Amino acid sequence: INQGNGVKGLSEIGLKALPKQYIQPLEERMCMTNVQAQESIPIIDMSNPDDPEVKKSICEAASKWGFFQIVNHDVPIEVLENVKDATYKFFGLAAEVKNKYSKEHSLSNNVRFGTSFTPQAEKALEWKDYLSLFYVSEEEAFALWPSVCREQVLDYMRKSEAVIKQLLKVLMKGLNVNEIDETKESLLMGSMRTNLNYYPKCPNPELTVGVGRHSDVSTLTILLQDEIGGLFVRGNDGDNWIHVPPIKGSLVINVGDALQIMSNGKYKSVEHRVVANGSNNRISVPIFVNPRPSDMIGPLPELIENVAEPFSDSSALIDFVINQGNGVKGLSEMGLKAL
Ligand code: SIN
Ligand code: FE2
Repeated sequence: INQGNGVKGLSEIGLKALPKQYIQPLEERMCMTNVQAQESIPIIDMSNPDDPEVKKSICEAASKWGFFQIVNHDVPIEVLENVKDATYKFFGLAAEVKNKYSKEHSLSNNVRFGTSFTPQAEKALEWKDYLSLFYVSEEEAFALWPSVCREQVLDYMRKSEAVIKQLLKVLMKGLNVNEIDETKESLLMGSMRTNLNYYPKCPNPELTVGVGRHSDVSTLTILLQDEIGGLFVRGNDGDNWIHVPPIKGSLVINVGDALQIMSNGKYKSVEHRVVANGSNNRISVPIFVNPRPSDMIGPLPELIENVAEPFSDSSALIDFVINQGNGVKGLSEMGLKAL
């Protein structure tokens, strides 16, 4: 698997049964009886972003669901279509070309093609390939990113920046934080990573997962998905899962652990997962908006003004992060300065 053409290669061999490394324990598989068909996450029309009702629905969605979709935003549809095409192009490259970006061969940790993040450590692998691109500068992207998708990903990131800023501004206003100075801007959107995800069709989708349940470590995640579907979000009463239906031209927005922490728990970083699909390949392209790797995060000072020792309860905070989040890997990548 590590040497070859990822899960896509396995899928295309035409396997009749799932290799055993991908069989997930029962509790990690999606049980369709837990799918809540009546509910859906909010869909927010961004054509009038200054409308107080729109702002209110963004903040409410972030507090109640941790997830929403935006439509009529300012990211042009061609930019979204182009990055989807580029994703297919990248995964369609020959195995030896993609493997130039694998853990073993990539010239930089900022560029990584892989299947599972830590295949040695994972009990069961996920049915997914990805290319992960941590943005440092245009120069670095030109030097290191695959040329089939470089321009399209850069354009997608550039064109999304305004909407990311707009959403963060509204979300901060919802916390009565009216000014985003340089320090805050760094904490909220100091670095970005774009992943290209490819979920090949799977011989036994019910036995495995596309992505197991997790929450994101980001402040915000902006996700472009294709028309296949399969992303589920944990509903607010715990045991049920809500499908995020594909809407052409929309972007799925979710709150990550870092924003949950900065907002002192007001905005929720909610678990989500992707099922494997028996009949279709699926792609998605998330932009993870993060603090800078060296930033240390905690609840914003404005929200804890009356607390004498803002970090006196930091061990409780950390327990909370571990339980909600992406494990120790997530903690490490947040760039915590202390254990
Ligand atoms: C993820 O949350 O890791 C991926 C979401 C998706 O592919 O829809
Ligand atoms: Fe995620």
